[in-house]
Amino acid sequence: MPLKREYKRNFRELIDHLPQTIFELDIDGKCRFSNQNGYETFGYSEEDIAKGIIFTQLFIPEDRKRVTENVYHILKSKKVEGHEYTAQRKDGSVFHALIFSNPIRHEGSPSGLRGIVIDITDRKQVERELKNSRDELRNLSTHLQSIREEERANIAREIHDELGQSMTALKMDLNWLMKKVLPDQKTVLDKIESMSQLIDSTIQTVRRLSTELRPGLLDDLGLTAAIEWYCGEFQNRTGISCNLKLGQEEITLDQNRAIAIFRIFQETLTNVARHSSATHVDAELAITDHTLNMNIRDNGVGIPEEKIFDPQSLGLIGVRERVYPFGGRVEIQAPVNGGTTVQVTIPLDHKDIT
Ligand SMILES: Nc1ncnc2c1ncn2[C@@H]1O[C@H](COP(=O)(O)OP(=O)(O)O)[C@@H](O)[C@H]1O
Ligand SMILES: [Mg+2]
Repeated sequence: MPLKREYKRNFRELIDHLPQTIFELDIDGKCRFSNQNGYETFGYSEEDIAKGIIFTQLFIPEDRKRVTENVYHILKSKKVEGHEYTAQRKDGSVFHALIFSNPIRHEGSPSGLRGIVIDITDRKQVERELKNSRDELRNLSTHLQSIREEERANIAREIHDELGQSMTALKMDLNWLMKKVLPDQKTVLDKIESMSQLIDSTIQTVRRLSTELRPGLLDDLGLTAAIEWYCGEFQNRTGISCNLKLGQEEITLDQNRAIAIFRIFQETLTNVARHSSATHVDAELAITDHTLNMNIRDNGVGIPEEKIFDPQSLGLIGVRERVYPFGGRVEIQAPVNGGTTVQVTIPLDHKDIT
């Protein structure tokens, strides 16, 4: 029938012009058909195929066992399956291939396999570049965080030690001066008194600044003490009540994890104060099954869904990046019954990436 013949020819043309390889194997895994692209991609000729090429020859030796296993598996199955391999051309050069194939059935039993080979070398390259660039950014962010922490600790120490000591020395000098002034020189005495008060309030400011930069408690008494302290400070400063619940097991963490958790706690409470209009925060800190869990929940308006993974939410990105080197996770949600929850978990038996 001419129509049928024409139809067949069109179909064959269509297949030959496809930019991917279409192939058929017989039941022994021998190639019995390829479209034009297949010859160009793999560098074999029609004569080569006629002489007999086993499908596994088209892959690097390391992949051949897997290819055979998958071919057997596909012959038994009924559905299309996709697999990635490193394919090898006749001249020995290689490329990344994604192959989808399914069995050809003849009177109910499999008589071969038919499929398509897609060259995914470019995609692989882009994937690799993307991964490299993401790794680089991560390393940079971790590096910057640790420099920042170090700097803060140094500045806190300098402010506390240098400024604090100078202020105390000044105060002592003033006391000495006060004793030298005659009692009838009231204006001088008043001046000295007001200078002394100014020094007192400066000493307070120096203390506050240095603790805000880096709570000494965190290094001296550990995470729990620092979090308890910060909770109290937050309450006094914002008027939002903060209830902290600690687990049974004592929380002892290495310095890096302790700083990470403390900074996440700080950022989360700052967000509560800034964005939530909450009146109350519940925080929980516990170790169970070698995992540190910190849950913070406010009773405010709830974080807008789109803000959770918004690339502009730099505070939240920072929070996630903080736990990344420890294999940790951060889940931020706005539960239906109101408020915002931030759940942080850090496995304590994980090997750090940094
Ligand atoms: N507890 C919260 N309640 C309501 N909205 C929140 C809360 N925490 C964060 N958000 C929202 O998520 C956004 C991103 O937070 P964040 O990344 O910390 O950025 P920033 O605090 O600098 O605005 C905030 O701008 C705010 O809209
Ligand atoms: Mg923030």
